[in-house]
Amino acid sequence: MSKYLMLLAALLGFVNVHAAEVEVLHWWTAKGEAEAQGILEDALLEQNIKWNNFAIVGAGGESAVRVLQMRALSGNPPDVAHIKGPDIGEWAKIGMLENIGKIADTSTWPDFLPKIVRETVTFDGQYMAVPVNIHRVNWLWLNKAIFDELDLPLPTTWQGFFATANKIQAAGYIAIAHGGTAWQDALLFESMALSLLGPEKYKQAFVEYNEALLTSAEMIHVFEQFKRLYQYTDSSMRGKDWYQASQLISNNQAGMQFMGDWAMGMWNTQGKKAMVDYICIDVPESKGLFSYNIDSFVFFEKNGRKNSREIQRSFIDILLSEKFQAEFNLAKGSIPVRQGINMDQLNQCAHKSFTDFNNGQLVPSFTQNLASTSHLQNIISKIISNYFNNPSADAATTVNSLSLAIRAIKN
Ligand code: BGC
Repeated sequence: MSKYLMLLAALLGFVNVHAAEVEVLHWWTAKGEAEAQGILEDALLEQNIKWNNFAIVGAGGESAVRVLQMRALSGNPPDVAHIKGPDIGEWAKIGMLENIGKIADTSTWPDFLPKIVRETVTFDGQYMAVPVNIHRVNWLWLNKAIFDELDLPLPTTWQGFFATANKIQAAGYIAIAHGGTAWQDALLFESMALSLLGPEKYKQAFVEYNEALLTSAEMIHVFEQFKRLYQYTDSSMRGKDWYQASQLISNNQAGMQFMGDWAMGMWNTQGKKAMVDYICIDVPESKGLFSYNIDSFVFFEKNGRKNSREIQRSFIDILLSEKFQAEFNLAKGSIPVRQGINMDQLNQCAHKSFTDFNNGQLVPSFTQNLASTSHLQNIISKIISNYFNNPSADAATTVNSLSLAIRAIKN
C-alpha cells in the first residue's frame, strides 16, 4: 500500500492511526540509495510501522558510525541501525544488541542464505544482525558513449587500462571519475591490490594483516602502481562524494569509475541502462574475483524497549521476504541476499554479479568494513589516502607506516 493509500485508510479508520515508530540510523541518502530506503519504509508502513528517519549524510558511513557511538554512549541508541561486518561483533561484545534468534525464527536461514552471508552476521555463534543485500565492490564502470566515440576496447589488463585512460584524457574527458575522500581513495587501492596480489595474498595482507606481506617488495609495487591512477582523476573532485563522481559518468564527462554497484543503483534511478549508457566490467586482471560488501541491520537492546517483539519480527520478516528482496535490490544496485529470488527484473550487471558471487573467489572488502572494524578501516584508509594525494610520499615508507598502525591497533 502506498503512503497515500495508507493515509486514506487511516483517515477512514481502516488502520490504526497510531502506527508504531521505529527509528533507523543509516546513510542511504544518495539517489538509488534513498529510493531503496523508501521501498523499505513503504513495506514497513504496510505493516503499520512508521519509519523514523535517522539518516546521516556521508557515504561510506564514517559519520553515521560516529553519531551512533555518541547516541549509544548517552544511553539512547536508535531502535535499528545499518551496521555491517566486524562492527556487528564490537556492538554485540558490549551487550548492546538483540540476539536475532530470540526475536525471529532463524532456523531456516541456512536454507536460503549463503554461508558467507550467515557468517558475516554471526557473533559468538549467534545471529546478531539481519543481512539485506550483497554489493560487489571491485567493479570498473565505463561510459558507453565515450567508449563508442573513441572506439576504445574494454580494458582487461592494466596495460590496456592505462592506454585507454591516456586516450580518454587526450580527447578532453576525465579518464577516472573519482570523488577523492579517504575511503574512495582506499577503494581504488583495494581494487588494484586484489587484482595484483590475487585473493590469497589480499586476504593475508588485509584480513590477516601478515606483516611480512604488508611490508614486502610486492606490496610496495602495488602502492606504486596505485599512485599511477592519480594523474587520471580530476583535481576539482577532491573531497567530493562517490555520487558526485558517478554523476560525471551519467553526464558523459568521464570515461571510467571504480566503485561498488551502489553507483548502478543511482544510474538506474536516473533512467540509465546497463550496456546502453554504462558498461560494467571486472577490474582489469580480476576475472572471477569478487570483493563483497554485505549490508545488514542490527537491533539495539534498550531498557524499557519501545518496540515490541512483534514489530521487530515484522521488520526482520520484511527484510528477508522474497518480494522485498527483489524490489529493494533493483533500486540499490545490489543482488539479493536470499537465494532463489526472481531475478528477471535485474539487469546484466546484477546477473554477472550474481554468477560471480556464486562461482567466483570471494574476499571481504576492507574499505567497506567487511574485513575489520570501522575504527581500523578508517586508519588504513587514511594512510592510503595520504600516500595517494601527496606527490612526494614514498611507497616504502607508507607500507611501514601502514604495518605499524595496524600492529598498534591490533595489539
Ligand atoms: C554501503 C552501501 C552504500 C555505500 C555508499 C557502503 O558502505 O554498504 O550500502 O550504498 O556505502 O553510501
